[in-house]
Amino acid sequence: MHFHKYEKIWLTIGISALVLFLTIVGVSAFAGGHAPPSAHETLDPQKVNETAPFNNPGLFKVGEKKYELVMISEAFAFTPGNVKIPKGATVTFIVTSKDVVHGFAIPHTNVNMMITPGHVNKITHTFNEVGEYLILCNEYCGIGHQAMSARIEVVE
Ligand code: CUA
Repeated sequence: MHFHKYEKIWLTIGISALVLFLTIVGVSAFAGGHAPPSAHETLDPQKVNETAPFNNPGLFKVGEKKYELVMISEAFAFTPGNVKIPKGATVTFIVTSKDVVHGFAIPHTNVNMMITPGHVNKITHTFNEVGEYLILCNEYCGIGHQAMSARIEVVE
């Protein structure tokens, strides 16, 4: 086979660009150790009850209208299952699972994440409207999946 000189040059540039691109994609995709971006922290799913902050689940005020909600998900419930917050509260949900993968979604908001056992899963949302919000498990997790939910009450 015979290649024209310019053809060789462009082929070289093309292949180099491809290799560079694949390297960047490959490195950025796997450098974090395959973990989803929200799950940089890990824990032993067998020891959730003894591992901070999950040894003390609940709602914690961390600033002016700023809260952290430490939650445990397990088949088929979230703990705590009922939380009251003031209108305008910014809540960082810190959630892990004791058993299988669960979902964590609040309809009509951007809150939607997968709760993977062994990971500390976090998402933040500001509740600007009074009302009742449901946290729903939207990953099939077993026979009681349909009933797996928690409630957030946003009050004036
Ligand atoms: Cu938990 Cu579905």
